[in-house]
Amino acid sequence: MSEEFAGDTPAWTREHAAGLRRDDSNVAPIIYPPDERVDEDLHIWDTWLLRNRDGSIAEIDGRRIIFALTSPSDLLPGKRHDVATIRYFYSTDGENWTTGGRIFDDGALGQRQWAGSAMYDPDGDEGEVYFYYTAAGEDDAEELTYTQRLALATGGTVHTDESGLRIDGPWDHQILLTPDGDWYEREDQSRGMIYTFRDPWFFEDPQSGETYLLFEANTPVPEGAGKCDDPVWEEFNGSIGIAHSPTGDPTEFELRPPLLDAVCVNQELERPHFVVRDGTYYLFISSHVHTFAPGLEGYDALYGFVADDLRGEYEPLNGHGMVLTNPSNAPFQAYSWLVYDHGDDLLVTSFFNYYDYNRASLDDVSLLPPEEQMRRFGGTLAPTVCLGLDGDQTNIVDTLDHGHLPLPRESLPTSWWEQADREGE
Ligand code: FRU
Repeated sequence: MSEEFAGDTPAWTREHAAGLRRDDSNVAPIIYPPDERVDEDLHIWDTWLLRNRDGSIAEIDGRRIIFALTSPSDLLPGKRHDVATIRYFYSTDGENWTTGGRIFDDGALGQRQWAGSAMYDPDGDEGEVYFYYTAAGEDDAEELTYTQRLALATGGTVHTDESGLRIDGPWDHQILLTPDGDWYEREDQSRGMIYTFRDPWFFEDPQSGETYLLFEANTPVPEGAGKCDDPVWEEFNGSIGIAHSPTGDPTEFELRPPLLDAVCVNQELERPHFVVRDGTYYLFISSHVHTFAPGLEGYDALYGFVADDLRGEYEPLNGHGMVLTNPSNAPFQAYSWLVYDHGDDLLVTSFFNYYDYNRASLDDVSLLPPEEQMRRFGGTLAPTVCLGLDGDQTNIVDTLDHGHLPLPRESLPTSWWEQADREGE
């Protein structure tokens, strides 16, 4: 990344977003509840894989590992963000997951922990895990607060034996980054919805070998700055933040200007992450219908941008940015998508959110009787979606089972389309 970077921040504009629409290329099939959830005692949502430093999926003694935000499955789903606890799960086949347990016993920073990423470094006697997470809420506050800081835990190690896999501490926790108020909005500058500074994503650039951290943030827009045609839109100021480690040390990062922002367009560009193919950078985020500025019609969806350089002129995929969304009769069935490379295709995992529910806004969920809120919440992994990618165009190719996460070396099961064809023969 050039220190000399001085150009304008690439923008996701209202013109781009005005083109957002559902069509055959981007609407996922309806999701039905699975026979079994990943863990019947837990609701799980944002999920990420343990990866090696180069971004490939780590495999430890034949197991892949996922981490997820979790809450007890008897808690009202709307309350889950307030008690979020990170747990790990592992699998030998990518289909059946065993619950490992809580990643941290105690000592984690924040009142609760939100999404992040995990990097495995096999050097040394015991492989070490670098665990990046969002410290949400102030540690000592009595009430629930919404401060967000990027945190890192180091020192965790992975052990396997006949009985399974364990990730052990003790962990050392530290705050890596807080918003500077200039490139990245601080809590006290926020004018609208809750500000964002979260979801750290470790990234080693395959072209330069440099070490980065991506994160979700907001661009400060001072009142009266006249950045948008309508001042109300100025509260919609999401950005994709980036920090650089000049030495490559995965514990020390410095803020750099955002990779992209969406001022006047959208307030939350969540869980940013990359897939890099042949020198082309595909940058993905999740966002919600309700975080688009007035006058734009958006969706709970996976969005993506493409550039030919890490600090390139990002353009929205498919012209408008939307890659994968929910059907109109189940607009909140999945959220928090995570993309990874699999041969010719991209695989996308997400969580099974509110189904059998098609009101205009998720906020209305809390108006339902508690038992209906519980009944309509998936709280487990959604079916994995297989996407085709051609230049700056994407399309849905197939879906796999709930929570099926094949490694790149594992072939995909015969698609249900092909199967249906064969049965019809
Ligand atoms: C996306 C998200 C993340 C955050 C988490 C909190 O689903 O908003 O940005 O880390 O949920 O539960």
